[in-house]
Amino acid sequence: MKQFLLAPSILAADFARLGEDTAKALAAGGDVVHFDVMDNHYVPNLTMGPMVLKALRDYGITAPIDVHLMVKPVDSLIPQFAEAGASFITFHPEASEHIDRSLQLIKEHGCKAGLVFNPATPLSYLDYVMDKLDIILLMSVNPGFGGQSFIPGTLDKLREARKRIDESGYDIRLEVDGGVKVDNIAEIAAAGADMFVAGSAIFGQPDYKKVIDDMRNELEK
Ligand code: DX5
Ligand code: ZN
Repeated sequence: MKQFLLAPSILAADFARLGEDTAKALAAGGDVVHFDVMDNHYVPNLTMGPMVLKALRDYGITAPIDVHLMVKPVDSLIPQFAEAGASFITFHPEASEHIDRSLQLIKEHGCKAGLVFNPATPLSYLDYVMDKLDIILLMSVNPGFGGQSFIPGTLDKLREARKRIDESGYDIRLEVDGGVKVDNIAEIAAAGADMFVAGSAIFGQPDYKKVIDDMRNELEK
């Protein structure tokens, strides 16, 4: 597995040509497809469901798909996304009535599981579930929309999450989502992240490969 994973967020892709645009971001060097699910209830926006994910698989997308559930309730959608072809499923702990059960449900359906932390959600939700996590995702914006600015306080929170992961001894990815750009990815990595979601930074530019190459160059500095 690569040291750093880049996950283009297709929230910023051209929805009228989603298969093509997703394939283009992967061909440009994206490792993982970040798939944002919003329900107009947990967050004030509405995006895509399992049918869209299945359509991407049917189109021929074979890369891992990282499903970021911004929905409440959580559990009813887990089997549907797993069957549609999700690889990772992450959810916000405050949106689940039974966090441990939701994590187990994800695993039972053969996917890797993770928790997502909003900027003001405490990391104490990690206390009793580290052994069940494959990913910890820290939001560096408030969830619901692409194109927002990175909240600088996330850097300290990343350092704290990195410490918890290292002390736990478990193999857990530390993912960051929101406002990740070429000019801040190096300091985000230095704070401990090893998986980077980028939506507008990639899809907002004509040359996806240039952005992704520039991000990798920053990570290798
Ligand atoms: C926001 C989503 C993000 C979003 C990031 O709620 O979870 O994944 O697509 O977009 P950018 O990279 O534009 O901040
Ligand atoms: Zn996301």
